[in-house]
Amino acid sequence: MTGFSVFSRLQVSQTLRKLQPQRCTQMTNRGLPHFAQGKVVKGFGRGSKELGIPTANFDEDVVGNLPEETEPGVYFGFAQIENGPIYKMVMSVGWNPFYKNTKKSMETYIIHKFDEDFYGKILKVVMLGYLRSEKDFKSVEDLIQAINNDVLEAQTKLDEEQFAKYKCDHFFTS
Ligand SMILES: Cc1cc2nc3c(=O)[nH]c(=O)nc-3n(C[C@H](O)[C@H](O)[C@H](O)COP(=O)(O)O)c2cc1C
Repeated sequence: MTGFSVFSRLQVSQTLRKLQPQRCTQMTNRGLPHFAQGKVVKGFGRGSKELGIPTANFDEDVVGNLPEETEPGVYFGFAQIENGPIYKMVMSVGWNPFYKNTKKSMETYIIHKFDEDFYGKILKVVMLGYLRSEKDFKSVEDLIQAINNDVLEAQTKLDEEQFAKYKCDHFFTS
């Protein structure tokens, strides 16, 4: 009898695993994948002016909804503005040590050239993977270089099927 129940428990767990979408190791950590949406609010405006890398900021409610295990750092995933196309994105989560912010932020850089800003528009993102921790830098140029490297790394990773499939997720189509 014991043998039978162990066997059937194994079968049940194998069946459940088959029914679940595949998750990679990167995504089982840090509360990923994490889906978030909200209005784009104004940051300090340094992203566009000083860095030439405009970022879309979420308000503090969206930041407050991050899972506890989501550490500060740089993430990659996909983003969508107001039911538009889905683009690759990189996101900084934390306090921007280079600028010594006092408030935690979630800043998304959408990897696409836009002519307008998105203040007040609805931004949807799915965070899929972690790239690195937030760092302080000696110069603005070094920060820009690091962000450009993040973009290159994210672009390659997001082409992997385990991440690319999230572009078709119900979250973006509903
Ligand atoms: C992909 C990415 C990586 C970033 N990495 C860092 C970092 O390592 N250290 C840091 O202080 N800020 C980092 N930032 C945040 C920028 O400093 C921030 O976007 C910039 O200050 C603009 O903020 P603002 O829109 O509030 O003006 C990063 C931003 C992005 C998009």
